[in-house]
Amino acid sequence: MPDRYAVIGNPVAHSKSPLIHAAFARATGQAMSYERLLAPLDGFAAAAKRFASEGGMGLNVTAPFKLDAFALATEKSARARSAGACNTLAWRGSHWFGDNTDGAGLIHDLMHNLGVAISGRDVLIFGAGGAARGILGPLLAETPRRVVVVNRTQSKADELAAHFAAHGNIAATPTGALGGGRFDIVINATSIGLQDTDGAGVWAAGVFAPGALAYDLVYADAPTPFARWASANGAARTADGLGMLIEQAAESFLLWRGVRPDSRPLFPLLRPV
Ligand code: ATR
Repeated sequence: MPDRYAVIGNPVAHSKSPLIHAAFARATGQAMSYERLLAPLDGFAAAAKRFASEGGMGLNVTAPFKLDAFALATEKSARARSAGACNTLAWRGSHWFGDNTDGAGLIHDLMHNLGVAISGRDVLIFGAGGAARGILGPLLAETPRRVVVVNRTQSKADELAAHFAAHGNIAATPTGALGGGRFDIVINATSIGLQDTDGAGVWAAGVFAPGALAYDLVYADAPTPFARWASANGAARTADGLGMLIEQAAESFLLWRGVRPDSRPLFPLLRPV
């Protein structure tokens, strides 16, 4: 019997994780199966428990269960604690170990796939929810010159900046108070919808330094609204979160199997040209 893994979520039918991990398993010669697990909205812990009792060894956790996974894991990595959420669980024989590979996935995509230096650079983040919190620890560990957080609800940006103040140079600034500041990396961590093509007053114009990258944490087959807005407002280049999705999976695979698969073959597989 191959070792069992799954992605758990609600909904989960759309998840690309089974495809990604099957490819990783083939490429690294690991005997493992990987399935989709649909859990009821109020039934995450019970579903995870059942999976472990049936021999399940690891879970990727997607919306809306990342906080439930954090609560369930009795042992957690430092990056999971800094994110306050878990996207990866590993069964340790008697309990779940919780990790968060989202931030590491983003950093890997930025530095290795997109060739973007973070150290010494100015970074702007739109959004102060779970997605923003999940990336801030790994981002600050790469010693950017400064990280500025802009959010619709200012108090949430202030809380986030205070939470990470010990990890680096981070500030929360109202959209209108950016004061002409220019940034090398501008990250969209909001869930501003398709209809808000002007960025709902949060995506501030005039923020892109020469050569700047605009990075959307979400991914889509067509350019995202944020990518379109950024291109129209001076970003030299744009990227969506497909690379982050692939790299967070590679980090999870490393935690489970002790080997980091080559992620490059996944890009043409998930985004055929
Ligand atoms: P996630 O886990 O994806 O980060 P979240 O915690 O609900 O989800 O956070 C969503 C983010 O998108 C927040 O920064 C939110 O701003 P608020 O903190 O002010 O709620 C932002 N967001 C969502 N819809 C928005 C909108 N229509 N206009 C502006 N900001 C929006």
